[in-house]
Amino acid sequence: MARFVLLLLGFSLSVSVCHSQNDTQLKPTIVPASSFDASTDANVLHEAMDSTQKCNQTAIGSILSRRSLAQRLDVAEKYKLIFGKDLAHELFSSTCRFRGSMHARMCKAMVTPLPTQYSNFLDLAMFCQKTIESELTEILCGNNNAMIRDIVQAYTDEYKRSLQADLESETSGGLERLLVLLVQANRNESSQQVDNQKVSDDVLALFNGGKVNWHDDPARLNEVLALRSFPHVRRVFLELSRKTGKDFKGLLEEQFSSGTKDGYVTCVRMIQEAQEYFADVLNQTLEGFLGSGDLTIARVALTRSEIDLGTIKEKYKQKYGRSVMDVIHEDSSGAYKDLLTAFFG
Ligand SMILES: *[C@@H]1O[C@H](CO)[C@@H](O)[C@H](O)[C@H]1NC(C)=O
Ligand SMILES: *[C@@H]1O[C@H](CO)[C@@H](O)[C@H](O)[C@H]1NC(C)=O
Ligand SMILES: *[C@@H]1O[C@H](CO)[C@@H](O)[C@H](O)[C@H]1NC(C)=O
Ligand SMILES: *[C@@H]1O[C@H](CO)[C@@H](O)[C@H](O)[C@H]1NC(C)=O
Repeated sequence: MARFVLLLLGFSLSVSVCHSQNDTQLKPTIVPASSFDASTDANVLHEAMDSTQKCNQTAIGSILSRRSLAQRLDVAEKYKLIFGKDLAHELFSSTCRFRGSMHARMCKAMVTPLPTQYSNFLDLAMFCQKTIESELTEILCGNNNAMIRDIVQAYTDEYKRSLQADLESETSGGLERLLVLLVQANRNESSQQVDNQKVSDDVLALFNGGKVNWHDDPARLNEVLALRSFPHVRRVFLELSRKTGKDFKGLLEEQFSSGTKDGYVTCVRMIQEAQEYFADVLNQTLEGFLGSGDLTIARVALTRSEIDLGTIKEKYKQKYGRSVMDVIHEDSSGAYKDLLTAFFG
C-alpha cells in the first residue's frame, strides 16, 4: 500500500511540475538582430554567391544565422526585388561547393516560411520510406490553430495535394482519426480557467467504470487530445494518473502498439513536456549512425530555435550529461557545423 501511495505521489508530482510550466520562461536561441537592413543583407548574400568566385560560406552563414526567420524572409523579398531571383533557390543550388547537401538544405529552409517548412517535414514523415507517426503528431499536436491552418494551406500550395487526404492514406485506425481531427484546427484556445466539471466528464468517459479501452474506442481520447485546451489535457492526464496509478506513457503503451503508440505518446508529450521530448529526440539522433547529418537535427533547430531551443539544450545537458555542441563538434565540420553552432551553441 505504502508503495502504491508513493507511486501515486511520484506521478502527481511529475505531472504537476509539467502543469505549472511557465511558457514565458522558455528560452529561444535565435532572436531578431537589433540592427538590420534587408537590402544590405541581400547585397552581401549576392556577392557571397557570386559565381565568378569561390562561394563565401562564412559570409552567408554569418547573415543567415544572426537573423530571425521573419528578418530572413525580408531579406529574401529584397533579394527578389533587387536581383529578380529566388533566394531559397539560389542558396540551394548556387555554385556553392555544398550544393544539394544537408548544409544547402538547411540554408534553403532558413529562408522558407515556417508553414512551408512544416509541410516539407510532414511530407517527409509520410513518404520518406515508412510513415513516422511521431513526427506527424509532433507537428500537429504542438502547434496552435492558426499555424495548423497555415500548414494545411502551405501543404496544398507545395504539393497540390490535400494534407488530410495524405494523412488518411498513410495512417490508420484511431491515430488516423486523431490526425484528421487535428488538421481541422478546432482546439479550444481559451485562456480561461480550466473547467473542473468538463475535466471530470472527460476523465469519467476515458476511464469508464474503471476500465480503459481506448484501443477499441478512441473517439473520446481523440476529442480530448485534439479539441481541448493544453491546460485541460494536462489536468485530464493528471486525474487519470491519480485514478490508475499510471502516467500517460504507461496508459498509452498499454492501449496501442508500434507507430500508433509513438504517435499518441508524442502527441501527449508535446502538450505536457515538449522540451524534454525534444531533448530525447536529439539524444536518439545524436547517438544514431547518421549523426548530425540527419534531417532530425535540422527539424529541431529550424522549428524550435525561436521558441524554446535554449531550454531544450539545457534539458539535454541535464539528462545526458554533455552539451549538444560537444556531440555536433565530434561529427560535423565546416560551414554546416558553424550553422549548427549558431542554433545550438
Ligand atoms: C511566468 O513567468 C513570468 C516572468 O518570469 C511571470 O511574470 C509570470 O507571473 C509567470 N506566470 C506564472 C503563471 O507563473
Ligand atoms: C568572406 O566573408 C567574410 C565575412 O563577411 C570576410 O571577412 C572574408 O574576407 C570573406 N572571404 C573572402 C575570400 O572573400
Ligand atoms: C473552452 O475552454 C474554457 C476553459 O477551459 C471553457 O470555459 C470553455 O467552456 C471552453 N469552450 C468550449 C466551446 O468548450
Ligand atoms: C539515448 O539514445 C540511445 C541511442 O539511441 C538509447 O539507447 C538510449 O536509450 C537513449 N536514452 C534515453 C534516456 O532515451
